[in-house]
Amino acid sequence: PTIYAITPTYSRPVQKAELTRLANTFRQVAQLHWILVEDAAARSELVSRFLARAGLPSTHLHVPTPRRYKRPGLPRATEQRNAGLAWLRQRHQHQRAESGVLFFADDDNTYSLELFQEMRTTRKVSVWPVGLVGGRRYERPLVENGKVVGWYTGWRADRPFAIDMAGFAVSLQVILSNPKAVFKRRGSQPGMQESDFLKQITTVEELEPKASNCTKVLVWHTRTEKVNLANEPKYRLDTVRIEV
Ligand code: UGA
Ligand code: MN
Repeated sequence: PTIYAITPTYSRPVQKAELTRLANTFRQVAQLHWILVEDAAARSELVSRFLARAGLPSTHLHVPTPRRYKRPGLPRATEQRNAGLAWLRQRHQHQRAESGVLFFADDDNTYSLELFQEMRTTRKVSVWPVGLVGGRRYERPLVENGKVVGWYTGWRADRPFAIDMAGFAVSLQVILSNPKAVFKRRGSQPGMQESDFLKQITTVEELEPKASNCTKVLVWHTRTEKVNLANEPKYRLDTVRIEV
């Protein structure tokens, strides 16, 4: 099956560095289709050029987050992930035979290559541990007799699916047979996006544990430090145009 990776991304000083790191990983994964969704009113030149040289099968989408939703404490990238879902459903509306696996790949996380081998065998919805998240070294689904029976997490253990966006994959068939499943703004509390989405397509009992019954961390919720641009000149001092 093809792995479809939906990556929301937005303009900031580290963007190209993040995308470079991500593309370097994805380039080593067979049959991966990258759906890059810019949080912007139009496709940017930076991302367009970058993708053209990335050497990866890709689709370049864009949708701006409404200004009222750009606030601390509110979920990020809801509209972008939904645009990726809409594209996938549109692409497969007449041709339902292709087997595929969908994964939400934020641009700042760190992905091992083993992770992609694990998720490729997803039948409906698969799950695995995520490192450096929830105020702990890792969060993970608790597994007994091959089934998920609970969650090891340091944060909001009451979540129906106490899992980060980087901790699950969904088969294309499940996405197509649940055409209304989307990320929601209304009623979605911080940290509940994953649960609100997964509730629409699966149950805890049905989840397929990966990474040796969820005992291996194969993806890390790394976050990039905000860059110090305190010494940027107020006016352009450099005499040539620099692509950065
Ligand atoms: C955590 C989760 O890991 C995310 O999957 C979740 O979307 C996010 O919380 C949330 O608050 O909604 P975190 O590291 O805090 O992640 O979030 P970011 O990495 O800053 O953003 C998640 C993704 O959305 C990234 O790919 C980022 O490039 C993108 N993003 C972020 C936008 O497209 N627009 C923004 O304004 C901010
Ligand atoms: Mn992040």
